Amino acid sequence: MDYSELVTFLDSELDNKNFSRISEKLPNDFLNAFNHGDFPAWVEALHALPDLTPDSWDLQDTVRIGSASQCNDEQRQKLKETLLKIHPWRKGPFELFGLQMNTEWRSDWKWDRLKEQIAPLENRTVLDVGCGNGYHCWRMAGAGARFVLGVDSHLLFTMQYWAIRHFLKTPPVFVAPLALEDLPTELKAFDSVFSMGVLYHRRSPFDHLYGLKDCLRPGGELVLETLVIEGEKGMTLVPQGRYARMPNVWFLPSCDTLHEWLEKAGFKNIRLINVGYTSPEEQRTTDWMTFESLPEALDLKNPSVTIEGYPAPMRAIFVAEKP
Ligand SMILES: C[S@@+](CC[C@H](N)C(=O)[O-])C[C@H]1O[C@@H](n2cnc3c(N)ncnc32)[C@H](O)[C@@H]1O
Repeated sequence: MDYSELVTFLDSELDNKNFSRISEKLPNDFLNAFNHGDFPAWVEALHALPDLTPDSWDLQDTVRIGSASQCNDEQRQKLKETLLKIHPWRKGPFELFGLQMNTEWRSDWKWDRLKEQIAPLENRTVLDVGCGNGYHCWRMAGAGARFVLGVDSHLLFTMQYWAIRHFLKTPPVFVAPLALEDLPTELKAFDSVFSMGVLYHRRSPFDHLYGLKDCLRPGGELVLETLVIEGEKGMTLVPQGRYARMPNVWFLPSCDTLHEWLEKAGFKNIRLINVGYTSPEEQRTTDWMTFESLPEALDLKNPSVTIEGYPAPMRAIFVAEKP
């Protein structure tokens, strides 16, 4: 949990001087920076991870680190018990030394939907806002990104990143416990900025879109994934109370409305590259995420609506360019 390597990277490895402004926002004394009640237990779990150096890894087609032959079953079981101390594992799957981490989400399916439709990440600098534990950040590195910074306001997910980072130290992939709003203004630095699964959590969607634009260099690409509804231009669902059991869902626009929002926020070359309903095979309870999941959020008798009576979760992916 040491950000000095990231600071060095920001200060000296990247051409745009604005990157170095991120350094001052990082927790410089990680262990003392947080007083979250579970933090000491998470730190203890990280310290209990075995010192294994992977003989190989694959970030291109999956996230696989090390091979099964490097561990016996007993060591794998111990590794699983240690990693489960930083439960719930929502994004994945990961494979660690033959241990299959079957997370709540098949985040690889989301990646498959967009990977051929975005600007190739080869040699690009990438920011992943609301990156969770960093699953997609590793995939971005696998796609050739030169530098990937993930930020997420939820500390648990940064701890999960550090658990993975413990075993895979070389690729320039970093996750920091920061919100988009914590980043310096007018960064104008990243070649690609991703915001996936975040917009509907924001009370002010336009502030979010402007914040994302602020991080991109001119000509850079935004990849935006969010919940949408079916409907015409101008239609937006603002759920009263919960949506699919989630308390913090604010705006679900139709695709045409979201297109308009992106235009209004100043993006150009806006393209809808994918839209579809989330299936209970993609998001479900597993032994790595033991709480209730999507199947429990849908109406048993009519899974096309949520238990609150709203349209079931449908997600769209847009790409857009900063002029
Ligand atoms: C639904 S998850 C999506 C994770 C991942 N991007 C994906 O698509 O699988 C949304 C994440 O956004 C984070 N988040 C919400 N608002 C944020 C903000 N303003 N800045 C950074 N992260 C934020 C939450 O903590 C959560 O981990």
